[in-house]
Amino acid sequence: MSTIRPRRLRSDLNIRNMVRETRISSKSLILPLFIKEGSSIKEPIVTLEGHSYYSPDTVQEGIEQALACNIKTVLLFGIPKEKDDIGSGAYCENGVVQQAVRHIKAMYPGVTVITDVCMCEYTSNGHCGIVENDRVVNDVSLPYIAKIALSHVKAGADMVAPSDMMDKRVKAIRKILDDNGFYETPIMSYAVKYSSAFYGPFRDVAKSAPSFGDRKTYQMDYHNRREALREALLDIEEGADILMVKPAMSYLDIVRELRDNTQSPICAYSVSGEYAMIKSAAQKGYIDEYAAMCESAAGVFRAGADMLISYYAKELSKAIEKGDIG
Ligand code: PBG
Repeated sequence: MSTIRPRRLRSDLNIRNMVRETRISSKSLILPLFIKEGSSIKEPIVTLEGHSYYSPDTVQEGIEQALACNIKTVLLFGIPKEKDDIGSGAYCENGVVQQAVRHIKAMYPGVTVITDVCMCEYTSNGHCGIVENDRVVNDVSLPYIAKIALSHVKAGADMVAPSDMMDKRVKAIRKILDDNGFYETPIMSYAVKYSSAFYGPFRDVAKSAPSFGDRKTYQMDYHNRREALREALLDIEEGADILMVKPAMSYLDIVRELRDNTQSPICAYSVSGEYAMIKSAAQKGYIDEYAAMCESAAGVFRAGADMLISYYAKELSKAIEKGDIG
């Protein structure tokens, strides 16, 4: 008589580790960094505890900390001093992100720098595109978004990640990069980005909350799953090299949907609100921060993601090194 007993494979730590289905490596982790225009800045970010703003001349501190934890890929966000209607700070040659990229690439050629390409931190109205008559106008925004991407790549960015959610922006970026000889620079598209309450802390951090209305006319409605696949397939067609799903935690079905239906590498972005939820619940003593961090990251990879952008990237990398996950 044969009996099937799943507990046999859970009886011993080494056996559990051996039969693990999800392997996680620090090579798959990406750390977001926030760069403020100015100099000598190192300022703790209140709503993202454990993170700091750097200026382009101090960003090496953030990079050193990342490298100390074996994190070699960063995602840069810029916070300019001045904003205007057309977000001109986003594409000027000496903009905050452009300066930071130059600085990082000169000092750490082995670090891979991805830049967030968007307008919301640079427009006075906080929207991700050009506003006309209180509407974000898709096709008018495209040349601006393309210009931002090009200026990041000219400064040395290794990859660009458009997060604006305008239709056809991947195509516009691919074209401008190719036309300028940057045909080898990949695009990580925020292909599936939902209009989400979990961006709350970020908007405070990046001072990018819209001054009127919301982002629902360009970011996706969280009731929709088929639409995610349409967005993903469109972006592949337009030339996206990596597809991102954002946020992560409430959207793991979407990660799996893309994994099962596309061949592209998939990145999940565990956003600011997800980090804040774990942090604050742990501070209240309701959950164990370390355990919750590990469990939620493993869930993202189990869902089918190949890489993860996380505000816990450094801590996760240490957990991997210790053998607690992966
Ligand atoms: C910019 C952008 C946002 C995030 C990444 N890029 C904010 C938004 O769309 O409102 C959110 C990241 C996070 O919450 O960690 N468009």
